[in-house]
Amino acid sequence: MSGLKGQEMAKKKEEKKVTTHVLLEMKRRGEKIAMITAYDYSIAKIIDHAGIDVILVGDSASNVMAGHETTLPITLDQMIYHASSVIRAVNRALVVVDLPFGSYQGNSKEALNSAIRIMKDSGAHAVKLEGGKEVKESVERILSAGIPVMGHLGLTPQSIYKFGTYTVRAKEKEEAERLIADARILEKAGCFAIVLEKIPATLATKVAKELDIPVIGIGAGGGVDGQVLVLHDMLGITTEFSPRFLRRYADLYKDIKGAVGNYISDVKSKDFPNAEEQY
Ligand code: KIV
Repeated sequence: MSGLKGQEMAKKKEEKKVTTHVLLEMKRRGEKIAMITAYDYSIAKIIDHAGIDVILVGDSASNVMAGHETTLPITLDQMIYHASSVIRAVNRALVVVDLPFGSYQGNSKEALNSAIRIMKDSGAHAVKLEGGKEVKESVERILSAGIPVMGHLGLTPQSIYKFGTYTVRAKEKEEAERLIADARILEKAGCFAIVLEKIPATLATKVAKELDIPVIGIGAGGGVDGQVLVLHDMLGITTEFSPRFLRRYADLYKDIKGAVGNYISDVKSKDFPNAEEQY
């Protein structure tokens, strides 16, 4: 083994892996948690090298990878395929995988079986599921097998047909109180963190202050313990989705389209390949 390779391997070993315990410590000392979605090996490798704390293999894969209108069609097998691709790339980040619609609702035994399949077949570190009181039994049963669980409240896209729209949730007192109660239930049940999606910032801040576990927001303001964004949205690969909370860090739609356009014209004009680009 070359000296350089040895050094690289030692560095890999030294790098402190993010665990659920590390996230709790981060909350305690006020360090914000950065989480982002990924669904494939190559992108997961880049974002792990960038130093992301948590990678979510979200069921948003149903939208951004498969082109479905909602998150409902993605299957457990498809989530496992995405998750195992991500896991092969990751050295440092905590990898959390969404339990897809229909794999846990209403039956805690099925929830446990689904979570076990994800952990066994993909090598993921934790699972995430949507809902409060109604999934308490499933959360407890999954936890009884030693599988860490992340909760998800507020706008829960798997219930889109119940809500009818993707607008901000829990603006009214009754729904806000229910959300606070659900957050308490999830913490008490043993969740290691909770995602709050698209709710008023004041409500999210209140929940984050009250809970000991980290609260990660998406469209929930800056008073929570961390942020999550869908990678394709923040990199500007998707263009049609533009909620107020989304900050775009790149315009990859434009960059990729431009680069592919240049390639097409180089091929058509016979500029590519040139003398150096062949054998
Ligand atoms: O599936 C997903 O990407 C998510 C995030 C929006 C939190 O659940």
